[in-house]
Amino acid sequence: MEEKQPLKQPVHVGLIMDGNGRWAKKRKMPRSFGHSAGMNAMIKLVGHISAHTQETGVKYLTVYTLSTENLSRPAEELEGLFNLLRKYFTTNVKKLYAKNCAVKVIGDLTVLPEDIRELLIAGENNSPDDAGFTVIFAINYGGRCEILNAVNLAVEGGKKLNAEEFEKLLYTDGVPYPDLIIRTGGEMRLSNFLAYQAAYAELYFTDVLFPDFNEKEFDKALKEFSRRERRYGKV
Ligand code: IPE
Ligand code: IPE
Ligand code: MG
Repeated sequence: MEEKQPLKQPVHVGLIMDGNGRWAKKRKMPRSFGHSAGMNAMIKLVGHISAHTQETGVKYLTVYTLSTENLSRPAEELEGLFNLLRKYFTTNVKKLYAKNCAVKVIGDLTVLPEDIRELLIAGENNSPDDAGFTVIFAINYGGRCEILNAVNLAVEGGKKLNAEEFEKLLYTDGVPYPDLIIRTGGEMRLSNFLAYQAAYAELYFTDVLFPDFNEKEFDKALKEFSRRERRYGKV
């Protein structure tokens, strides 16, 4: 009799939310319109994923919100993005806590406007302790910057580290490696996302622009993941 394999499920999913600008351009609207639509899509998606952790097995979702490179976008676009973050971290995070979800922020927060930095830190600190699901916001995040930061901390410590000790110095300390990374918007690259942690992640690319990326599209990615064979270099 053929043995039934358990369905493969990712514990940690990374999401590169790309394509907001092109979504807006197609509608002859400013890029900020695309970012607002992207924010709405993200809110809906997080609600869906957090409500289905039992069935899907997904316990961590890292959303690439702003890269270190994005910080050199025009001031007007950045201000729009910051305002969306202000709004999200004042109102929406509370809805997450109410559903027993925790919030974590990774990235270099030191160069962000002070009020945003405070909101992000509070967003993390006010999270429930026993959360069943964690949303990790990568904000002014860059994988290279994260690794360099960890290396400098290690050098300050003055002794050689093993992998386990080194990983404690990354922003993602305590979070398992991503199993699946989804990128919307058609580009097939990681753009400095989780450079260290993604070494063995399964990658899923879709042409869907992020504001159109919904629960159905997410579930398609999970289905594709369940068919992948992860070998980790073995035969
Ligand atoms: C992703 O959408 C959101 C951020 C990078 C902040 P983009 O703004 O990169 O949208 P496109 O790629 O120009 O369509
Ligand atoms: C990656 O998208 C960053 C985020 C989605 C936050 P970009 O649009 O910045 O990436 P590139 O420039 O196409 O590589
Ligand atoms: Mg882009």
